[in-house]
Amino acid sequence: MQTAGIIGAGLIGRAWAVVFARAGWRVRITDSMPAALERAPALLAESFGQLAAAGLLDDPDGAATRVTCVASLEATVAETDLVQECGPETVAAKQALFAALDAATPPGAVIASSSSAIVASLYTEGLAGRARCLVAHPVNPPHLVPIVELCPAPWTAPETVTRARSLYEQAGQVPVTINREVEGFVVNRLQGALLSEALRLVGEGIISPQDLDKTVSDGLGLRWAFIGPLATIEMNAPDGIPDYCARFGPFYRRLAADSPAPEVWDAPNIARVAEAWGDAPDKAEIERRSALRDKRLAALIALKRARPGEKH
Ligand SMILES: NC(=O)c1ccc[n+]([C@@H]2O[C@H](COP(=O)([O-])OP(=O)(O)OC[C@H]3O[C@@H](n4cnc5c(N)ncnc54)[C@H](O)[C@@H]3O)[C@@H](O)[C@H]2O)c1
Repeated sequence: MQTAGIIGAGLIGRAWAVVFARAGWRVRITDSMPAALERAPALLAESFGQLAAAGLLDDPDGAATRVTCVASLEATVAETDLVQECGPETVAAKQALFAALDAATPPGAVIASSSSAIVASLYTEGLAGRARCLVAHPVNPPHLVPIVELCPAPWTAPETVTRARSLYEQAGQVPVTINREVEGFVVNRLQGALLSEALRLVGEGIISPQDLDKTVSDGLGLRWAFIGPLATIEMNAPDGIPDYCARFGPFYRRLAADSPAPEVWDAPNIARVAEAWGDAPDKAEIERRSALRDKRLAALIALKRARPGEKH
């Protein structure tokens, strides 16, 4: 049985605990805030219950018993195959955590950060075990969205990336490798391109924000749940990707030459978008919508798993 040590019992740390325990791993999780650790078992039980209700987990109680909440970081990472750091998103916090983790984690274990945007070279350079460190960036919530971006630092050993890919695959995730460090990795660069254009179009009054969202939820996003943008364009021209690009390239070139300016992220444009969007939902409403999102994602994942042979 594999063992994962998880640092930080916030949103992402708890979701990783669900991922590994669901896959049959032993999981230890810690947090510097005792209250976060006390809350964790009830929240984990809720997630295991949701997965079982969606038909994605046979034995929610068994999965819950594989997770142990541990007070000390050292005890959490002892005898682990994989350490998943899920602490605060600051360079200082990651530097302190990785120094402690490298000292306490047994040789041979991979140490991965969940960081959304901070590359591993900023907090692993001086470590004796820097060759076994990398970023493994999930998308929230990782127990329902399986992609994990593996991004090595320049000194991460190639075997670390290979081993990490294998470990995340064993845990039921879908790892992809980012070949060299780049800000935002790939998921958030793609999301950033889409968001910048969305903010421009709504800010300029070309479309309402509600209709803009429908272009993804009832349009592009339906295909993207099963095929990516390159597989999509390959099917949209008789002779594949070069043919598509020959036909539509001039249009996309004009768009690329007129890409959204950084100012779409400035306060005046954001104020225009927020006003068009309408009243912000309160905390309870956000929680209700998040739960509904997770329920629908679970149903979508169940559909994808039911048709495993249909890759494209
Ligand atoms: N929230 C997202 O959508 C998302 C998605 C992908 C990746 N991430 C990344 O995952 C990481 C965690 O994000 P989150 O949303 O779970 O944050 P969070 O605030 O919900 O959780 C962070 C937890 O770390 C704990 N912590 C702080 N210092 C610690 C220490 N020294 N030792 C142990 N625990 C400590 C905090 O008490 C807190 O419970 C960040 O690097 C974030 O960028 C977040």
